[in-house]
Order: sequence, then structure tokens, then C-alpha cells
Amino acid sequence: MEELSLHILDLAQNSIAAGADQVKLTVEEQPSNDTLTITVLDNGCGMSAAQAEQAADPFFTTRHTRSIGLGLPLFKMAAELTGGSFSLHSAKGKGTQIRGVFRLSSIDRMPLGDLNGTLLLLIQCNPSTDFIYTRICGNRNFELDTRRIRRILGEVPINRPEITVFLRKYLKEGDLELKGGVYLDESGRACSNQRQGEK
Ligand SMILES: Nc1ncnc2c1ncn2[C@@H]1O[C@H](COP(=O)(O)OP(=O)(O)O)[C@@H](O)[C@H]1O
Ligand SMILES: [Mg+2]
Repeated sequence: MEELSLHILDLAQNSIAAGADQVKLTVEEQPSNDTLTITVLDNGCGMSAAQAEQAADPFFTTRHTRSIGLGLPLFKMAAELTGGSFSLHSAKGKGTQIRGVFRLSSIDRMPLGDLNGTLLLLIQCNPSTDFIYTRICGNRNFELDTRRIRRILGEVPINRPEITVFLRKYLKEGDLELKGGVYLDESGRACSNQRQGEK
């Protein structure tokens, strides 16, 4: 895999395969610590202590379609290659937390890739799963919580094309805000470095 967003897709797919109806994805960049931390927390079936112990081993999988599972071992390797770390916490019947810490400036660190596209794909393909996505850069942060969006949408399905268009714009706006507080006007143009209505 060449992009961290593809690892995130893989981790979220593990959560969905584990029956999670809620997946928290956090991508945090802290330049002052030289870290990029990716955390995926789900409320799926979890793993026994023995399974958790083996999960990052390339020869372990509970799937039957292919004899080896590579998602977790590759993610672990990608983090460790940068001088970072990997952790896995899981409780049977409760859920799982996977975390990779990458050294931000390492030449071996993969680019993040298309995080927004990955998240939109996950939302579109798993309309009954809630995703709580938090993007943190230094002291700025941005969140997309499908539970909140669902409350606003009422009966309208979250994977309707026009909702995807709206979510794409919302994520793009969030990215701009993370980079310096740029506000997008109705036509998508950056028009100020402050949100409307803010002093
Ligand atoms: N979020 C999760 N919840 C429960 N079990 C998981 C989770 N992530 C991974 N696992 C377990 O670890 C195994 C290895 O995962 P992975 O390396 O991604 O390979 P694969 O998904 O191809 O089996 C899975 O088969 C599953 O048993
Ligand atoms: Mg997998």
C-alpha cells in the first residue's frame, strides 16, 4: 500500500467485518512532536487475548477466503518503518482500538492520500454504520460525525448522491479551516480567513 488512507480503509473494513455499527477514525498531526497518529476505534465483536496477540502476525486471519491476513501487519510495519509504533487493544464483545504512530518527517512515511475520498466511500458503502471522523492538526481540529448528520437528515438516506456532494464540500471546508481558517463561500471560493459571523 502506498497511501495511509488505504490503510485506514482496510482498518475500517476490519471494524465493519467485526460487526461494528460505530467506527471512530482519528487522524492527528502534531508537528511539534513530529507525529502523525492514526486511531481506529470500533464497537465490533472484539478479539480474545489470544487473537489480539496474533492479529498483527501476517499468518493470522479469521477469514476463510484467503489463508493470510495482511491488513494489520502491513499497517504495523508502515508505522514502525518510520520509527513510530503500533498498538492494539481489544476486548471480546466490546470492541477494538488500533493505533499507529508515524514519524511525520520520516522519508519512509507514506503520504496520507485521499482521506476525504476514503471517508466518503466508507459512508456510501456502509450506510448503516456511523463514522465519527476527527482530523487534528496542531491545535486545530475538525469533526464529521454521521450520527449528527443523520439527525439533521431525518428519513433521508445518508448515501444519497446530493448528500455525498454536501459531505464532500463540508470535508473540504474542514481541511481549509485546519490549514488556516479559510471560509468557503456558496460557490466554493475561499473568501476570508475567518468563519462568517466570527470576530
Ligand atoms: N477491528 C477488529 N475487530 C475484530 N477483529 C479484528 C479487527 N481487526 C482485525 N481483526 C482480526 O484480525 C485478523 C487479521 O486482520 P487483517 O490483518 O486485517 O487481515 P484480514 O482482514 O485480511 O483477515 C482478522 O481476520 C480478524 O480476525
Ligand atoms: Mg483486514
